[in-house]
Amino acid sequence: MNEKLDAILKNGLEEIEKCTDLKALDEVRVRFLGKQGELTAILRNMKEIPPEERKNVGMKANTIREKLENALSEKTNKMEEEKLLADMAKEKIDITMPSKGVKKGALHPLTRFNNKFMDICVEMGFTVIQGPEIDTDYYNFEALNVPKNHPARDMQDSLYITDNILMRTQTSNMQVHAMETIKPPFKIVCPGRVYRNDDDSSHSPIFNQFEALVVDENIGLKDLMKMIDTILKRLFGEDVKMRVRPSYFPFTEPSIEIDATCQICKGKGCSLCKGSGFSEVFGAGVVNPKVLEMSGIDSKKYSGFAFGPGIDRSVMITNRIPNIKYLFRNDIRFLKQMR
Ligand code: DAH
Repeated sequence: MNEKLDAILKNGLEEIEKCTDLKALDEVRVRFLGKQGELTAILRNMKEIPPEERKNVGMKANTIREKLENALSEKTNKMEEEKLLADMAKEKIDITMPSKGVKKGALHPLTRFNNKFMDICVEMGFTVIQGPEIDTDYYNFEALNVPKNHPARDMQDSLYITDNILMRTQTSNMQVHAMETIKPPFKIVCPGRVYRNDDDSSHSPIFNQFEALVVDENIGLKDLMKMIDTILKRLFGEDVKMRVRPSYFPFTEPSIEIDATCQICKGKGCSLCKGSGFSEVFGAGVVNPKVLEMSGIDSKKYSGFAFGPGIDRSVMITNRIPNIKYLFRNDIRFLKQMR
């Protein structure tokens, strides 16, 4: 039995030495130490060994098992280390290689215009607020003096979710939210997306507006015009001229439409401004006292003015973008040209 055990140890160590990969090493482990292994068989059949030899054989078998286990784990560690070193040598970083270059990102033209407008408003003391794009009929229409069946609803082809809930058609809904929650005097501006059932090269079902609302004592049309003049000069430069036309919005009285010097031809007249030298920039007006009252503001003490530009058209004109959809597709080829 002693010789048999010695032979197992000798064989085992030789086999381990011969292994060249981890798989072979595992096979050797199973062959010698596994459940069906040679050493396990001897330990299992101890009762067949004469009692006086049993203790020595048992001890020797266990020592051999330990030796083989140690040899196996030593070899495994060595092989793993060699593999790691080989991998590291293969993956060496060549720091002398030229770099692939860094791709620079840039702000979207709508974001740039938005930021510019917001900065101007904030410098003038406005607070920027944001609010729901899905709103009730009350905030989007009723509380702005546009009751059900009012013909002014035809101007905004609306996307309803239920009879009473819709995608807001104008950021003017924020006028009502602001008046309900902020105590006058205040100046708020709200940038945001609005939605209408409109779809052609210059109209998109999603577009962007601002809503600016000022509520204070003794303010009116002349303050509104002065403020718009200042904003236009900051936006387009000191020589911009402004033109005012009468208009109609149920929530303002009087209502006006503001035009500014066409930014393409600088007032000379071109195909975009149809030769007039002016392009339409936004609707505005003095807040209808009925609207103040509906939101709980005393219209004898306070008055207000508001304006609501759409920004997509201005961005399209100044960047000569032929189709509004380009602004929303996020096509990298288009965005690269807008840097
Ligand atoms: N909400 C209007 C629209 O989408 C634009 C507008 C007009 C906003 C007059 C105003 C305003 O605040 O006073 O057509």
